[in-house]
Amino acid sequence: MTRTRNPFVRPYLKWAGGKRQLEGEILPKCPKTFNTYYEPFVGAGAIFFALQPERAVINDLNDQLCLTYIAIKDNVNELIEQLKEHKNNNSKEYYYELREKDREPVFDSFTTIQRAARLIYLNKTCYNGLYRVNSMGQFNTPYGRYQNPAIFDEEVLLAIHKYLQSANITIKNMSFEKSVEDAEKGDFVYFDPPYDSPNCTNFTGYQAGGFDHEQQILLKDVMEDLTDRNVKCLMSNAATDFIIDLFKNKTRNEFKIETVRANRMIGSNLDSRGKVDEVLIRNYKL
Ligand SMILES: C[S@@+](CC[C@H](N)C(=O)[O-])C[C@H]1O[C@@H](n2cnc3c(N)ncnc32)[C@H](O)[C@@H]1O
Repeated sequence: MTRTRNPFVRPYLKWAGGKRQLEGEILPKCPKTFNTYYEPFVGAGAIFFALQPERAVINDLNDQLCLTYIAIKDNVNELIEQLKEHKNNNSKEYYYELREKDREPVFDSFTTIQRAARLIYLNKTCYNGLYRVNSMGQFNTPYGRYQNPAIFDEEVLLAIHKYLQSANITIKNMSFEKSVEDAEKGDFVYFDPPYDSPNCTNFTGYQAGGFDHEQQILLKDVMEDLTDRNVKCLMSNAATDFIIDLFKNKTRNEFKIETVRANRMIGSNLDSRGKVDEVLIRNYKL
């Protein structure tokens, strides 16, 4: 179930693959009613915040990202104080000083609030809001040189805090397949995985490790298992031949496959060949 939507409850991060632009396409495809809402690849949470469900399990493999949700839920005032300090100090030098903290022993003693404030500040001041880490898991996106970056919106953070406190929201940090293990009949899962890449050079900027074809196949298996358990599932992905063939299974035809407009660029190919349609795949009737 969802509640009356508070417009201030909206993404507070820039996130690769963020779904705010596609809200108009995705929301009408969500079931009208469901029990618990699951979003195993929550990222900046555009669809989660748009739906504002009463009961939800949100999850992401990125631990620093999950800490931002936890900090907003548990201690938003302290988080805002720290963000104000980062905003006042913002400069290229300050950015790199804070960015390098995850290479220093002091990072081990950073509290949840300090980590969350650091991530939100870096996210809003780094190049293109890109979350990129090296093989050691250390943040390595360069400074973005924005004129006057809006690092945070106090009203938005307070509204999200109120929502996360008053609704029944569980925040998990694990791989997607584990996060939906306890989904039950009548629940709804929206999967927004890292997109398949047409030339198999999967964009791996979210997390050391990446998301390859093996993971896409695992996701399909999880969706079949959830279908058998009467759980409603919707997935967005790139409309590549690989993904469409994977779900166009002759023996199980429960998946409805719909292609939506091309609006994303893949890699550095900026001509029309670099544009890929999006696909929405669901296991329920509207
Ligand atoms: C396309 S983004 C989601 C964007 C999100 N829907 C939004 O509106 O911002 C994919 C997310 O999946 C996460 N991720 C990557 N591999 C994962 C895995 N195996 N399990 C769970 N989350 C994963 C990434 O950290 C990233 O946040």
